[in-house]
Amino acid sequence: ACSTGEEVYSLAILLREHMLTLADPPRVQIFATDIDERSLTVARTGLYPKTYLSAVSPERIAQHFVVEGDSAVVAKAVRDLCTFAPHSVLRDPPFSRLDLVSCRNLLIYLGVEAQQQLMPVLHYALRPRGYLFIGMAENVTRFEDLFETIDKRNRIFQARDAIPPARLPPMSGQDTPIFAGAGQPYRRNVTTHTALRHTVETLMLAEFTPPHAVVTRTGEAVHYSSRIGDHLEVVPGQPTRELAAMARKGLRLDLRTALREAIEGNTRVVRDSISVELPDGRLQTISLVVKPLNTAGATEPLFLVVFNEAAAPVVKERQALEANERDTAFQGLERELSMTRERLQGVIEEYETSLEELKSSNEELYSVNEEMQAANEELEASKEETQSLNEELQTVNAELTSKIEAIDQMSDDQSTLFEGMNVASVLLTPDLHIRMFTAAAAQIFGLQPGDVGRSLRNFSTPIPLTWLLDEIPTVLAASRPSERTIEGENGARYRVRLMASSRKGSRMPGIVANFTNLLEQG
Ligand SMILES: C[S@@+](CC[C@H](N)C(=O)[O-])C[C@H]1O[C@@H](n2cnc3c(N)ncnc32)[C@H](O)[C@@H]1O
Repeated sequence: ACSTGEEVYSLAILLREHMLTLADPPRVQIFATDIDERSLTVARTGLYPKTYLSAVSPERIAQHFVVEGDSAVVAKAVRDLCTFAPHSVLRDPPFSRLDLVSCRNLLIYLGVEAQQQLMPVLHYALRPRGYLFIGMAENVTRFEDLFETIDKRNRIFQARDAIPPARLPPMSGQDTPIFAGAGQPYRRNVTTHTALRHTVETLMLAEFTPPHAVVTRTGEAVHYSSRIGDHLEVVPGQPTRELAAMARKGLRLDLRTALREAIEGNTRVVRDSISVELPDGRLQTISLVVKPLNTAGATEPLFLVVFNEAAAPVVKERQALEANERDTAFQGLERELSMTRERLQGVIEEYETSLEELKSSNEELYSVNEEMQAANEELEASKEETQSLNEELQTVNAELTSKIEAIDQMSDDQSTLFEGMNVASVLLTPDLHIRMFTAAAAQIFGLQPGDVGRSLRNFSTPIPLTWLLDEIPTVLAASRPSERTIEGENGARYRVRLMASSRKGSRMPGIVANFTNLLEQG
């Protein structure tokens, strides 16, 4: 699937560069194939717009290209390594014994069935341990029995050298008879009626039903009945499981057309009076029946092929046999030709429709890609913004931390200063709730450290506090200290000085009240 050849020439350039480092380089040949003739014509010329080489180094351009104006043509030495040819990986006979297959960006366009067909073909095309390259959006995980992963990220695989196991559709029922053969009739102990019935039915099937086989929709046999061998023969060449290819000569054509009709129409097809020559020269008349088999649990459609032996084989004159054979073959060929024409027309129409679909989904993919790129750019931009915001926040945070440390230090200093003073001082709210006090004040009012937040009026004071309550608004409003001597009961006399502790208009105004015991001062 080389399309217009860019990938082919990239591989050729890499191989050529490596060959130049070897004393005795091997002969290299690249078969570049595609089903699209127009792409192949472009590929053969090796002529591309110069802009295609934007990611190629100047040394490589000089070594492997001839640049003419806005175009560049691949050098002859590189082109000579490549042979371009039309070829379908699905329809045409596969290549074989290749060292490397690069089949990039084709699988993504194929359905599961076509992929299932393609991967064994690619495996067949490779030598044991040969390499397979596929596109970055593709994988072969369902074909691990055929390919071993070498480089998962770059999608490089290696063909396993084991013969690929046949891929049979899983069947729910048991398809080996309980009876292995006449020599060992009882492999099971028949103890129940069900088991007995099963045994009898199996025996009847083996002995008295016409030979039959079950095939997939590609015509591959997945089950044979007993005596099927009477109607099949070993064909020389590569072993096959295709039932029609193994049928006896006189039967092949009719079986092939009947199968195709039944598979395409999903219907029952009968072919009567088919004369088949047996190996001993006798003539056997066969009636073929092909019908869809609706088997529960089967993952793909299956078809039953029955070989009804209409009469016992008879000996016939050689000439009559040959004439009969010719007529039958001729009629069969005509039938097959007209069916092939119809089928071809259908395939062409299907191909055109899927080409259109491919084109439109490709366009969609392009626009989705562009949208994703735009979204990605936006994400990058907002990521940068977030980063710078984050840096700013970190600076602010550092500033805040140092301010908090300074405040803590100041608070410690204040507390130490307060404790060191031998002055009875209380820091109050305007309604006399305690915010802080010195040890001397604690002695006068009997305060404990846990009393912060309580009202000074709740404590037994030696002097009345009415003057304080009246004077505080004036002190706060004027931001000016006020003093007075207050006498209490039992002869107590205190000089009380009130000062505003905060600036005027502060949201948390405070008052410092100093109490001096005049009696103690004498
Ligand atoms: C997306 S292009 C990939 C081109 C190239 N391999 C790359 O990755 O750039 C897919 C190519 O597969 C080709 N193709 C489609 N069906 C094919 C088939 N059955 N056999 C061979 N080539 C096929 C198309 O003609 C098209 O050129």
